[in-house]
Amino acid sequence: MENQIKKIAVLTSGGDAPGMNAAIRSVVRSCAYYNIECVGVYRGYQGMIEGDFKEMGARSVGNIINKGGTILKSARSLEFMTKEGRQKAYDYLKKEGIDAFVVIGGDGSFTGALVFNQEFNFPVMGIPGTIDNDIFGTNYTLGYDTALNTVVEVIDKIRDTASSHNRLFFVEVMGRDVGHIALNAGVGAGAEEILIPEENLGLDRLIESLKKSKKSGKSSSIVVVAEGDKIGKNVFELAEYVEENFPFYEVRVSVLGHMQRGGTPSCFDRVLASRMGVKVVESLIEGKSNLMVGVIDNKMVLTELDKAIKGKSKINRELLKVSDIMTT
Ligand code: F6P
Repeated sequence: MENQIKKIAVLTSGGDAPGMNAAIRSVVRSCAYYNIECVGVYRGYQGMIEGDFKEMGARSVGNIINKGGTILKSARSLEFMTKEGRQKAYDYLKKEGIDAFVVIGGDGSFTGALVFNQEFNFPVMGIPGTIDNDIFGTNYTLGYDTALNTVVEVIDKIRDTASSHNRLFFVEVMGRDVGHIALNAGVGAGAEEILIPEENLGLDRLIESLKKSKKSGKSSSIVVVAEGDKIGKNVFELAEYVEENFPFYEVRVSVLGHMQRGGTPSCFDRVLASRMGVKVVESLIEGKSNLMVGVIDNKMVLTELDKAIKGKSKINRELLKVSDIMTT
């Protein structure tokens, strides 16, 4: 069957993540390899609504594999959530002769793509790009590995000052709904306790655990808290509570914030992005649509966008036990 896809648009949407540029590069170069035209859409769906497009050839994505952020910029578009907004986007895509688009983003961005496909029968594909790793259908999302390395590096530095002053540090990391960053970086950085939304440790058990480690001879401690943790207090209230109920450490709080989203992508994220870009372009050429590319057991797999949006990514429970044993 002759390839029906002659021109593909690529955009980044939602929160940026390291590795997005490597994915843009891969989509653009895969298009060039298969003689398909490629167009970059600036500012996510908002740029699509405003016709903010730019032709992209293989040479236009030179020297970006190593850059954080996204050269196409990103946005969360409220207008794209309306039928009128999506109609404007469709009109621009048609005007430019674009046959399909690839969106690099998280579940909100995939929901937009799916609704768009259902309304206009327009081929769409997704590449999971978010540091949270909270997408079903892939073991890893783009940016997650880099964010983990960033967090571990920072906690190592916090440990230097924590141990110099016999202090207890609460370190808040990103993860709106999931604890992947907290759990993995917590284990990697040797945190005393890890508080994640999936496990409600409870304040009493937290105090108990801190008492136990103090008794065992520890002079400083690090507790990693996911921002979406369900303990019922924010990280500052938590710190205050612990200071009042366990006055043996001086307590400090560090909220790592958006620095976790920036920086040079790790080798892992660059390779993953390159593989994902090739797979989506080849899938579109094969006539596929409404799918997200992912990696499971080191193989590239495709998951229906609908399932990727509705499914839940699960934390690795083995790590909870490993963490418990490591803090003995
Ligand atoms: O979705 C990724 C994420 O990093 C979340 O962990 C965090 O809550 C959110 O983005 C913050 O994003 P913004 O400040 O862009 O709204």
